[in-house]
Amino acid sequence: GYVRGGSCDEVTLRANRAAFDRWRLLPRVMRGLREASTATTVLGQDVALPVLIAPSGLHRLAHDDGELATIRGAHGAGTIYTMSTASTVPMDIISQEGAPWWFQLYLFSDRGISRDLVEQAAAAGASALVVTVDVPLLGRREADERNRFSLPDGIVMANLQTPKHMLIPATDEGSGLATYIGAVWEPALTWDDLDWLASLSPLPVIPKGILHPDDAARAFDHGARAVIVSNHGGRQLDSAVASLDALPAVVEAVAGRGEILLDGGIRRGTDVLKALALGARAVLIGRPVYWGLAAGGESGVRHILELLRAELALDLMLCGLASPAEVTRELLVPADILVQRQ
Ligand code: FNR
Repeated sequence: GYVRGGSCDEVTLRANRAAFDRWRLLPRVMRGLREASTATTVLGQDVALPVLIAPSGLHRLAHDDGELATIRGAHGAGTIYTMSTASTVPMDIISQEGAPWWFQLYLFSDRGISRDLVEQAAAAGASALVVTVDVPLLGRREADERNRFSLPDGIVMANLQTPKHMLIPATDEGSGLATYIGAVWEPALTWDDLDWLASLSPLPVIPKGILHPDDAARAFDHGARAVIVSNHGGRQLDSAVASLDALPAVVEAVAGRGEILLDGGIRRGTDVLKALALGARAVLIGRPVYWGLAAGGESGVRHILELLRAELALDLMLCGLASPAEVTRELLVPADILVQRQ
């Protein structure tokens, strides 16, 4: 329930997938391509495919090796791992891998904790700071409420120091996660917080959880270097717009001031193509990583990414495109509209 689920009626969870089905691809042929490369860069960092690991918490629930398996799988597949604030493996262990990683921050009411986390992440070699802005409170996740979600003994949020912050105790009623978040995270985020976080370290700051075009533009006035268009995988505001449907207006509003990333519902190589065609630099995946981790630890995570990479390479070939850089808006037509000659 924790991994699969969305909030309330899961309208947004379904909408994230349905949005991809409303676009069709208009391929070109006879272009003499022998192979396509999926490689690109994100904020100047090389990646073997335009698919990164979205931050998700508590990986030791899926596999004993937890986040260590995830970063190894990501590294093996040539992409960037984003470590959640709620990692169950501490960042000094993760940083020893010598693999590229970003750190994702949830702001705590105690600003000192947030500051320490950012400074530690910068010192440990993270190369970007993702700030999640769509969780003032936890969305209503009914599966977690029914299951009385809590952390089993022996699994803790390993980057935090006090029991109040590290543990999610068993509850008699409702979701322990929702209780935890209500008690320790800051609900009242403002743009000043983004300026403050950007000032704490040299790391590029990437707000995650933006859907409104004006918010996307504003983020760049407050120190953002990129934004992640996301509705948290349909886990926060139910009935929020699908992230793919929010993307075109964000791209227009940002007007080239920085890179735009997207997550939510990416499951196939063609989903990646559609997001790139609408203006994303790259995408991130959440649940598929968890499934790979649960099924096979490090090699499971790597396998998920390699499936996506192989599909994307094939799809590029089938579209007559040599690389992600060649993907443009012309690749797409709305599903229910006849193709017109431009
Ligand atoms: C998440 N997500 C998330 N986001 C974040 O910023 N910090 C976090 O700790 C978590 N934790 C988390 C746990 C689990 C189990 C899931 C499934 C998701 C949201 C995640 O980063 C991403 O936005 C979505 O998962 C993307 O949608 P898909 O790929 O799961 O459809």
